[in-house]
Amino acid sequence: MREWTRAFPAQLRSGFAAGRALEFRWPRGVDRSVVVGMGGSAIGADLLRSLTDAETDLLVQPVREPTLPRWVGPSTLAVAVSYSGDTWETLAAFDVAGRRGAPRVAVSSGGRLQQLARAEGVPHLMVPPGLQPRAALGSLLGGLLGLFDPAFPASNRDRLDRASKVLLMGADELGGAAGPPTRLAARIRGRLPWICSSEELAPVARRWATQIEENAKRLAHWDALPESLHNVLVAWDALTRREAERYFVVRLQGAGDDQALRDRFEYLSKLLAGRKVPVATVRFEASDRLERTLSAIQWGDYLSLALAELGGVDPFPVEAIQRMKHRLEKDHKSRNTIDDR
Ligand code: PA5
Repeated sequence: MREWTRAFPAQLRSGFAAGRALEFRWPRGVDRSVVVGMGGSAIGADLLRSLTDAETDLLVQPVREPTLPRWVGPSTLAVAVSYSGDTWETLAAFDVAGRRGAPRVAVSSGGRLQQLARAEGVPHLMVPPGLQPRAALGSLLGGLLGLFDPAFPASNRDRLDRASKVLLMGADELGGAAGPPTRLAARIRGRLPWICSSEELAPVARRWATQIEENAKRLAHWDALPESLHNVLVAWDALTRREAERYFVVRLQGAGDDQALRDRFEYLSKLLAGRKVPVATVRFEASDRLERTLSAIQWGDYLSLALAELGGVDPFPVEAIQRMKHRLEKDHKSRNTIDDR
């Protein structure tokens, strides 16, 4: 898993090149899209959306279920992403999109999705096989960035190259035995990591939590400000001394956070200090949104590995997911369709 984490920048670049090279023409008049996927294959859509929302006129709606929004039809691009190519929810949504007449693209390392795409004449973006889906994020996200590149005012190629170089340079320090993620893991210890960010970095906070869940095999939680000040705050406020011992808040601070947001984090930090909940802030200072997003992903991936190491668990297997798929998906093997009314 460490090697794959190290390969993240290289994956981003090759994924981007493959996405750009895909034989696919953006259909005229399409100004919205859904990107369907689950788990490790879904997070790339959130990260893409954070960028397209800020920099393009295109709507990118991530979807994590087999049903599609009612507005998906011939003028919506539907991209189905499944690393294995065999995830039931994604295959069902791919089928619904086809029945609705939406132009489609499939992304996988093979599997049924590739077969269906081939049979139905849908462009298919191949990502390298043999990894865990969450370890293929560079290829999946890079592929999406390549595919959606025409929607941006200027190509993201140079920007991504620059960001990849920065990631590569940071890998030794971040992955090192005395690196900042290892030190933070030692502070978190047995407490539940509560990852808190701005809306901009919310997909990153989500990735940190899911990486901790899958790699370190322990619960984690994420939320974003300012929204959480309008609900979660009440529970923090009511926290007893004893309950406070269970949590460790990690704040992701980005250069994109404005003063209003900083004031709100400050307010929350003071309240947490009053309740004796430890808070650590990790800063991402890059002025480029893409670079700081990717740097924050890389940091969190190393933190999840450090927590796995600290807990003495193997980050690689996710047997519970395999068992769930085996149990629930065998009935759907020949039927990747759902009622779509
Ligand atoms: O991390 C994982 O292994 C999961 O979250 C998978 O990504 C998820 O089950 C979907 O599978 P796939 O990515 O193969 O579509």
